[in-house]
Amino acid sequence: MRRTLVIIKPDGVNRCLIGEVIKRFEQKGLKIIGLKLERLNVYKLKDHYVHLEDKPFYQELLNYMTSIPCVLMVLEGKEAVQVVRTLVGPTNSRKADVGTIRGDYAMSIQTNIVHASENNELAEKEIKRFFKKEELIEYDKMNFGWLYCSSEKEKYSQLDIKWKSKQEEYAEKKEKIKQKGGKN
Ligand code: CMP
Repeated sequence: MRRTLVIIKPDGVNRCLIGEVIKRFEQKGLKIIGLKLERLNVYKLKDHYVHLEDKPFYQELLNYMTSIPCVLMVLEGKEAVQVVRTLVGPTNSRKADVGTIRGDYAMSIQTNIVHASENNELAEKEIKRFFKKEELIEYDKMNFGWLYCSSEKEKYSQLDIKWKSKQEEYAEKKEKIKQKGGKN
């Protein structure tokens, strides 16, 4: 089993789509193991979007993502990253297929309702960025036996996630600021 991070972005919250989006993931068979409403911290977002900092839309993206709270969740399931991305559709909502979340509810490349981790490596990083270890809850869900056949019922394979201590996080942040010449 794998885990992935989903963020229902401010447009999803403003447009009253929280329930609809969660329903789609739940009904597909993904298990919610973390869920919270949070106004995202700009420093965490800068980390999250570091690969986009040279893009012309970067500042607008930060403004949008910090405008109102988001809903964050961690979903678990077999090949969860790929399954969730298929349900969400491509970044540009206008090109998303009908039946996907973006295809059904969005028109934009930016206000595209949800964020979903791109691959397993990023999923692990993003889960650690936005959730504390104690915010993830492991439990047995009754539908498990009906969702998978015996060869698909493997153990969760990311259980060994090593969470950083506060000191390690602080040292890493300091190093990053130093590398950027002191600017956040
Ligand atoms: P997501 O794929 O979740 O993470 C990166 C985000 O950047 C993306 O969703 C959009 O919200 C935003 N984004 C990506 N490309 C563009 C673009 N060309 N113009 C504006 N926003 C974008």
